[in-house]
Amino acid sequence: MTKRVAILLSGGGSNMVALVKSMTGDHPARPVLVMANSENASGLDKARALGVDTDWVDHRPFKGDRAAFEDALHARIDAAKPDILCLAGFMRVLTEGFVSRWQGRMLNIHPSLLPKYRGLHTHARALEAGDREHGCTVHEVTPQLDLGPILGQAYVPVKPDDTPDTLAARVLISEHQLYPAVLRRFATGDRTLVQLP
Ligand code: GRF
Repeated sequence: MTKRVAILLSGGGSNMVALVKSMTGDHPARPVLVMANSENASGLDKARALGVDTDWVDHRPFKGDRAAFEDALHARIDAAKPDILCLAGFMRVLTEGFVSRWQGRMLNIHPSLLPKYRGLHTHARALEAGDREHGCTVHEVTPQLDLGPILGQAYVPVKPDDTPDTLAARVLISEHQLYPAVLRRFATGDRTLVQLP
């Protein structure tokens, strides 16, 4: 049976676009909702242009009450009855309560070769460490940030003259290949590791 996918974002949504465009033909899943934590997330316009339903819950009025924000978010997402939730540049840390509701059904993409460089500024940290290889990871979301089971990784060689921006741009291209590849496999119930290139 075709799986229903909701995608959560905060920004430009280039990974969302890659995911949505991949879910055609014999793909085992279809996008049912793109959700943001701001009305102004430009990814929402891109989703509408692709014909996907959109919604948003502004996190700011909930300041100090993360659980109330997540309850509102959950209600909107639940209404679309997704089977799988894909975080794609969703910049709010989710509580254990929210994560446990979706555990085993929620994926995230992170711009590093986890377990290296959990958290932010991953490209700068890889360069500072002198890494020869960097990349991105798709993992299941568990309550501990960037620590869930790894489902796929894409490797990106670091060039001697890379800056955080040039490296980020190449990693992003890999993200657009890796996330759809993992989702396609995951939607069939297959959790075996995807490795790219
Ligand atoms: C990506 O680098 C992703 O790995 C990170 O946030 C960024 C989102 O970019 N979690 P986009 O909104 O998909 O273009």
